[in-house]
Amino acid sequence: MAQKAAEKAPAFFGQQEYAKGLDGVIACETHINYIDGAAGKMIYRGYDVEEIGEQTNYEETAYLLIYGKLPTQSELDDFTAKLISYRSVPPEVIQVLKIIPTAKTHPMSALRTGVSALGTFNPDAEEQSVENYEDIGLQLIAKLATIAGAVQRIRAGKEPVEPDPSLDHSANFCYMMTGEKPSEVFEKMMGLSLVLHADHGVNASTFSSMVVISSLTDMYSAIAAGIGSLKGPLHGGANEQVLYMLNEIGSADKADEYMDNAIKNKVKIMGFGHRVYKAYDPRARIFALHSKELCEAAGKPELYEIAKRVEEKVIDAYGAKGIFPNVDFYSGTIYHCLGIETAMFTPLFAVSRVAGWVARILEYLPQNRIFRPRAVYLGEKDLQYVPIDQR
Ligand code: MLT
Repeated sequence: MAQKAAEKAPAFFGQQEYAKGLDGVIACETHINYIDGAAGKMIYRGYDVEEIGEQTNYEETAYLLIYGKLPTQSELDDFTAKLISYRSVPPEVIQVLKIIPTAKTHPMSALRTGVSALGTFNPDAEEQSVENYEDIGLQLIAKLATIAGAVQRIRAGKEPVEPDPSLDHSANFCYMMTGEKPSEVFEKMMGLSLVLHADHGVNASTFSSMVVISSLTDMYSAIAAGIGSLKGPLHGGANEQVLYMLNEIGSADKADEYMDNAIKNKVKIMGFGHRVYKAYDPRARIFALHSKELCEAAGKPELYEIAKRVEEKVIDAYGAKGIFPNVDFYSGTIYHCLGIETAMFTPLFAVSRVAGWVARILEYLPQNRIFRPRAVYLGEKDLQYVPIDQR
């Protein structure tokens, strides 16, 4: 049998189209999210994200993504109460975060470590029922904000604060980072950002968490994998790289020269282009509007002007190829104006995206098949082993 399968292998590969980076490969079925890349549109469970972004809070969005419908008021109240009851993390997890060498560790690595540590304190972590995966998923949605808040406080040399049950998810997250109840603007922007980042097709971090769960391992491992993937500069980590670039440019009048050089030398410009969108990312459109307002209100209008000039130059050079700002381009300018440390931008993304990871995992598990692609073998064959003293 094994011999027959091996003989078949070359023919099998010959018939398959090899798609580098799984470009365009359909990996699963979903009802959660659809992106029309040509039109620059994105929907959560049928609802346009631009409308959802303006109308809902994070809890309502998470409910929609996970359960497939907008909740009634009592369903939302129960869901919100459950998330509030799940916010605390064991003090030992905070201890683990405190012994991480903060100055040298990216906060995404601390977040990933926090999730791994959290799993070791749950005696039910390995139980494989759908109910258990769902329950731990909801716990992780609630607790990731607590861990990220603690990571920020420890980085700032401050003591982490306990969650405040009187605040909704986004306001409480702001509170746990700063130790103060957020202003109306801070709360509104954080809410919008958490809603807009909550899910986005089979992106790398979502796929990573699905691949990991497909072996029927525990939920903590899958979410830790999602965080590890999101951290990279080609994924969620791009938002902080954008701000470093805008700071490096320094002023709007230097943007042209900087960009001309970058374009001439084919330097990768973070925050632009997307595997799926060949038009403006709808999330970037929303963030661009708020970025202008916020930069002006924060007395940093130049930051928006630099960003706008960079956008114009990139669209001028690459717009015809379908390269436009993506979600990461303007989000950082908003976080910066809210006073958030640049290294914390990607953890903010994770605190939101965990709802998408959980929704996708719960959707995939009932139809689970372990992910197991194959590779085109380009190496040698039929070599004879040479003993080490004869090489
Ligand atoms: C995301 O939201 O995950 C990013 O836009 C990346 C992607 O969708 O591939």
